[in-house]
Amino acid sequence: MGRILFTNQVACELNMHLCSVAVPMRFLVVDKNSRENCLPLLQGVEILPQNIIEIGTGEGSKSLETVYHVWEQLELGGARRDSVVINLGGGVVTDLGGFAAACFKRGVRCVNIPTTLLSQVDASVGGKTGVNFMGFKNEIGVFSIPELVIIDNSFLATLPKSEIISGYAEMIKHALLCSYESLDKIMQVDLESVASGEFLQILRESVAVKERVVDEDPTEKGVRKALNLGHTFGHAYESYAIEAGVGWYHGHSVAYGLIGAIEMSVMKCGFNRELADTIITYIKSIYPSYPANPSAEELYALMLHDKKNDGNGVNFTLMHEPGEFMINSHCTKEEILQVLKRV
Ligand code: GLY
Repeated sequence: MGRILFTNQVACELNMHLCSVAVPMRFLVVDKNSRENCLPLLQGVEILPQNIIEIGTGEGSKSLETVYHVWEQLELGGARRDSVVINLGGGVVTDLGGFAAACFKRGVRCVNIPTTLLSQVDASVGGKTGVNFMGFKNEIGVFSIPELVIIDNSFLATLPKSEIISGYAEMIKHALLCSYESLDKIMQVDLESVASGEFLQILRESVAVKERVVDEDPTEKGVRKALNLGHTFGHAYESYAIEAGVGWYHGHSVAYGLIGAIEMSVMKCGFNRELADTIITYIKSIYPSYPANPSAEELYALMLHDKKNDGNGVNFTLMHEPGEFMINSHCTKEEILQVLKRV
């Protein structure tokens, strides 16, 4: 899955990686937030000011127009096939910068430096790149593995708690996919010390779960669908919040989606009821209540649009127990409505 480095010395690691790349051939994609808060940690890495490409913040900027802007800057800066695009930021920057790099001259070198927990544990690793199109999330994109991902949890020190718990939902998902031991460990994590050495080790173990799955199935033909655990319900919560105009995070939606997937797993796959209750109580102790009041029918309607569905209806990843998952599980409307009423 490309090289992934875990460190608290991002500048030093990046410099070592770039030692063979001429300074004019280095390009850095940032947004306003990562430029202000994260670029200072790259002190000592030489990048020409005119090669720093700033894009807008947030999902609204994740568009083909923004990609055009990045390509224009690469062209004007004289980028070549052997140039390196370094993406410094959260998921929008790494997804969009990765896509721009993958298409420019049919692919230039790419390094991701994710700065949010969500992008460190999920978005920046595994090679999914892309942009939103005509209101659909990540509709246009390609699989393109970056040559290096540098994960430095010093970036997490100043992130608000909501950003931390958003990324943490993907770590709970990885633990559920991995084993009882991982689940037990993840539920004991101290979210107050995310910049610590201990947390860096937990991050490494979490990303390793994704790495194993992606190595087996890089283009999501089969087992990679397991990484969608919680996302079928989760995307419905996320889409509803966007339509209702209420502020809500991707990871918070995934957390609620995991509750849905666990309930469905109890109903259909014999997942232990007592363990399910323990996990659900834990998740609810961390995440705020959902900020809107959709009916089960409204959420179900949104789930019908999930791009992971096939011709056979709504498609889930479910679990028999931690570490034992089942992809391509189709559920009936009645089953889905029943679960939605319990979440
Ligand atoms: N975020 C799930 C995946 O990368 O496949």
